[in-house]
Amino acid sequence: MGKMAMARQAATVARSGEILHITIEPLESRDMKPLTDPAQLGFGRIFTDRMFTMRYSKGSGWGDARIERYRSFSFDPAACVFHYGQEVFEGLKAYVSEDGRILMFRPEQNARRMIRSAERMCLPPAPEEVFLKALEKLVLLEKRWIPRVPGTSLYIRPTLIGTQGVLGVHPSEEALFYIILSPSGAYFKGGFMPVSLLVEDTYVRAVPGGVGEAKTGGNYAASLLAGERAQEKGFSQVLWLDGRERKYVEEVGSMNIVFCFGKKLVTPALNGSILPGITRASVLELARRLGYEAEERRIAIDEVIAGAADGSLTEAFGTGTAAVISPVGSLFYKGKNYTIGGDKVGPVTQELFDRLTAIQYGRAKDEFGWVREIGRV
Ligand code: COI
Repeated sequence: MGKMAMARQAATVARSGEILHITIEPLESRDMKPLTDPAQLGFGRIFTDRMFTMRYSKGSGWGDARIERYRSFSFDPAACVFHYGQEVFEGLKAYVSEDGRILMFRPEQNARRMIRSAERMCLPPAPEEVFLKALEKLVLLEKRWIPRVPGTSLYIRPTLIGTQGVLGVHPSEEALFYIILSPSGAYFKGGFMPVSLLVEDTYVRAVPGGVGEAKTGGNYAASLLAGERAQEKGFSQVLWLDGRERKYVEEVGSMNIVFCFGKKLVTPALNGSILPGITRASVLELARRLGYEAEERRIAIDEVIAGAADGSLTEAFGTGTAAVISPVGSLFYKGKNYTIGGDKVGPVTQELFDRLTAIQYGRAKDEFGWVREIGRV
């Protein structure tokens, strides 16, 4: 579907009162699972009782929006998603504040990024207002699942897949948009502790003109082998370099990357092959508001390594919805290990983490208008 046609489709759906009607299937009490001890949650392993689903077909557009019991899907074995990876997804979180407000962090940014990802992957995007309404309704119905222990939240995974069963390589004429919820703790087992990264100079994640900036499953599938090899060697994740010259830093396995040269923050500029992270954008805005200088530019791995070697690179951290802000304690590159900031959590990383999470959990005033209150527990 062309961009114009998709925009027209989205507009039709958004205007139609019918699509905003969500059928809510009753949940039997026997289908309500027991809550997991928040200390045992881990990341993305537990799912709530219900999910949101909505179906698309080329002839009739989006319809059949429902909140139903979390259960397995059944698809034609020839479905496009299985063969040609026509899939995009999002990740965001819901939190409960100390005074019982249910908060979401910048969900409209996820809705917009999903539309951009969908357009890149020739999928029909769910309109922003439908995305937001579905999200809010589902999270409110499932609010008992939002964990309230510090560092935990309800991770939300909106997903869009091509479901038409046909083997010709062309955009799917049928799609499914669904949202599942997973009460989660820290993304990394160690929590807010420095991670070690292997600078990957063999494999690449994305190339100019490719799909690196789309949040599509194939980017993560393509990263698995390098990630596995890095973990076998004892590193948490890989730091990707650019796909053309393997010279410039791009991002980390599941995060964007920020380097601190004292009070100056430097992060790779969005160049089409880097994921435009919402946490990345928020941290840059927050840092600038706090008086830091924050540069978005091309940054050579040689500059990073030189900074680590001479100590001018004082801190580094990853940013992502799942990982929030994750300190980076060391980089391994061309056979040598470089420690950053004594492999400890540095003051800049700590301040940004504290400030950002205080906004997300409703402990601090949100001067940016990032937090959306959707109800109370
Ligand atoms: C996120 O941070 O939400 C992500 O999608 C990264 C990863 C868990 C795939």
